[in-house]
Amino acid sequence: MFPPCVTVHDKEFCELISGEEVARRVKEIADRMNQELADKNPLFLAVLNGSFFFAADLLRNLNFLSEISFVKLASYQGTHSVGKIRELIGLNESLRDRYIVILEDIVDSGLTMQYLMEKLQEYQPQAVKIAALLFKKEALKVPLQIDYVGFEVPNIFLLGYGLDYNQLGRNLPGIYALKS
Ligand code: IMP
Ligand code: MG
Repeated sequence: MFPPCVTVHDKEFCELISGEEVARRVKEIADRMNQELADKNPLFLAVLNGSFFFAADLLRNLNFLSEISFVKLASYQGTHSVGKIRELIGLNESLRDRYIVILEDIVDSGLTMQYLMEKLQEYQPQAVKIAALLFKKEALKVPLQIDYVGFEVPNIFLLGYGLDYNQLGRNLPGIYALKS
């Protein structure tokens, strides 16, 4: 087990949301999806790398057979968003007429999700919904509808449960916040 505060590279992070709380909340989101999505044959689209824990834990709590695919894009270096999307890989034509549910670890400025939503429209899906484990509401710069939100979090750099700081810390079971 990890202590309540950890040093990652040059910075200290302390636990904000425990692994148990995260697990409970992910289960609640899955329960809602079991009610709302079972008859929609959704295609889950997990945004790598950060959403791999969220996607795995969410899908194993669903009670209907479901399909998942992965895309990769990145806008972050260190602890600050660099503000532009650098790469997008993993989309293909099979998105047409599908009911897509994006799985994202965290929405910060919202630029990544806005970009992905625009890209997805080119494939003519039936619908695109967003599920984000974490949402930095105060940091949002663009209008964005997030259909499933795990936790609204303060506008500070976070780590753990898939989120990294320069590639370290993704395996922390809870969410940790940068100590000011
Ligand atoms: P946005 O485009 O500004 O909304 O940023 C979205 C992406 O930046 C997320 O998918 C994360 O990968 C990354 N990100 C945003 N905030 C954090 C954070 O606090 N810790 C680690 N990664 C973050
Ligand atoms: Mg991400």
